[in-house]
Amino acid sequence: MNLQNKVMVITGAGSGIGRAASYRCAEQGATIVALDINGSAAEITAQQVRDKGGKALAFATDITDRQHVAAAIAQVVAEFGHIDVLFNSAGSTRLATIDTLSDEDFDFIIDLNLKGTFIVCSEVLQQMIPRRQGRIINCASYCGVREEYANSAYCAAKAAVIMMTKVMALEMGQHNISAVALSPGNIDTELLQSALKTRAEIEGVEIAKLYQRIGDKVPLGRVGNPEEIAALVAFLSSDIAHYINGENIMMTGGFVMS
Ligand SMILES: NC(=O)c1ccc[n+]([C@@H]2O[C@H](COP(=O)([O-])OP(=O)(O)OC[C@H]3O[C@@H](n4cnc5c(N)ncnc54)[C@H](O)[C@@H]3O)[C@@H](O)[C@H]2O)c1
Repeated sequence: MNLQNKVMVITGAGSGIGRAASYRCAEQGATIVALDINGSAAEITAQQVRDKGGKALAFATDITDRQHVAAAIAQVVAEFGHIDVLFNSAGSTRLATIDTLSDEDFDFIIDLNLKGTFIVCSEVLQQMIPRRQGRIINCASYCGVREEYANSAYCAAKAAVIMMTKVMALEMGQHNISAVALSPGNIDTELLQSALKTRAEIEGVEIAKLYQRIGDKVPLGRVGNPEEIAALVAFLSSDIAHYINGENIMMTGGFVMS
């Protein structure tokens, strides 16, 4: 996969899938712009890329804040001139059954996973449209196509990300911009570890048993790792994948088959 000369914005780049994708895409030659609400975590990612001889900048950016995102994107364009690829990885959940989910947690989940993804796409598309070139990869989830206990708002938000991405592909094709959703299965990151901790409390089960249980439900017998998703992100970012458009690409080890 050749990502030479590609400027790539990655949200949630301070941890998990976003960090692994930053490393993998930098190895393939991309210049990485690491955005994360946790600015020091994003800086660690960028520094690691630079230490290995790559090019990277980090910005402390809350993707739910339009002005924050607009300021970061303006700085990226001032520094690198353009943006070729956007990978929206920032996302999270708060587990609770629907009868106990607070309005505050519902809003948090929708704002982060759906509206935040929308805000970054809309700011980056302003830069891509005049160049008639661009690729959007939005991280959704298997939860966008399959129900999950105590995760209603997240499932709804990820289903909406999948559909928003399809409409984006439909609208942006005329500008030579393609868009895909990427839906991981259970991947071993901080998000999974913290979700397992809460789920263990809700279900009264040990974390180790839960971890084993989710692995056992996958035909390959294990959860995935962020590097596996990162390799797919690198492929989807390359020119040879540009014609894959409007799809929801599942990578779940066979846990969910579309
Ligand atoms: N890990 C899994 O099992 C799994 C499964 C399916 C989908 N996903 C999705 O993959 C994506 C990445 O998840 P992960 O597992 O790497 O999680 P993670 O918690 O390891 O990383 C998420 C990153 O997003 C950042 N972030 C949170 N809120 C933000 C905000 N408002 N603005 C900017 N950055 C923010 C966090 O600081 C963190 O660095 C998410 O969209 C998640 O929903 C993960």
